[in-house]
Amino acid sequence: MNPSGGLRWHWRAWRSQRPWQGTREHLAQWLESVQPACDELLLLGPSAGWLLPSAFLARFKHVHCWDIDPFAPFLFARRHGAALRAAGVHWTYQRGDAWANLDALLAAHPQAAVLFDNLLGQLRFHGPSSGPEAAAHLAAVERRLSRLHRSLGGREWGSVHDLLSGPGRLAQPGQEPSMRKRKLRAGAPLAQDGWLAGLQPQGQWLDHLTAAVFASGTTVYDMAWPFKPGYWHWLQAGWVAARPVKR
Ligand SMILES: C[S@@+](CC[C@H](N)C(=O)[O-])C[C@H]1O[C@@H](n2cnc3c(N)ncnc32)[C@H](O)[C@@H]1O
Repeated sequence: MNPSGGLRWHWRAWRSQRPWQGTREHLAQWLESVQPACDELLLLGPSAGWLLPSAFLARFKHVHCWDIDPFAPFLFARRHGAALRAAGVHWTYQRGDAWANLDALLAAHPQAAVLFDNLLGQLRFHGPSSGPEAAAHLAAVERRLSRLHRSLGGREWGSVHDLLSGPGRLAQPGQEPSMRKRKLRAGAPLAQDGWLAGLQPQGQWLDHLTAAVFASGTTVYDMAWPFKPGYWHWLQAGWVAARPVKR
């Protein structure tokens, strides 16, 4: 069973097209602001690309998708195939574990930009969920995520991922928090961030262990995603330009 994808995810995404429309627009707005320098993209965890605009993918000559979900290639082709063919994009879809094979993937595509498409915040669910093994798994995921920006070795990359998720109710119906653009500041505690106050967050929100994915100083976009009735995800998106590697 795939805890973050598979048929349950496709069913939810298909049914939620209307409530997720605002989030799709926010993601498209963010991606329009991105100016990729590479013409090849490694797209990791895209599923069927339910939230991705085809127009972004059409900006590359080659797109290589990786997901563990066996249903994803077919559904991705249905959603994006025609637009990609029309734009002359060569694309492949490989079923496999992009996180376990990340180093090999990067080595196989040295000139590609990388987009983690709502994958990084899901990694906590792909491991033991109780007992001492669970604590060790979460600690290992958080540690590896906090080193990710260094391990990408100066290449161009981006990610959209869950930061926190939990119950909330809009104080004013129809008044979702607007997308927010900001520069990350090291050590700024999420708990004191009032950006989501309009959702009247309740209880303890789930930490997706992604707070240190982007380095301090990265420009990020925060989005409030109405995942299901009464339950929200705080999505964070950012794009990092290539930089020379210090030796
Ligand atoms: C929340 S869904 C996001 C889907 C996608 N961004 C979309 O808009 O439809 C997370 C996706 O990550 C995939 N995934 C989880 N772990 C993975 C891994 N280690 N390697 C590749 N894909 C993975 C899941 O199968 C799922 O399709």
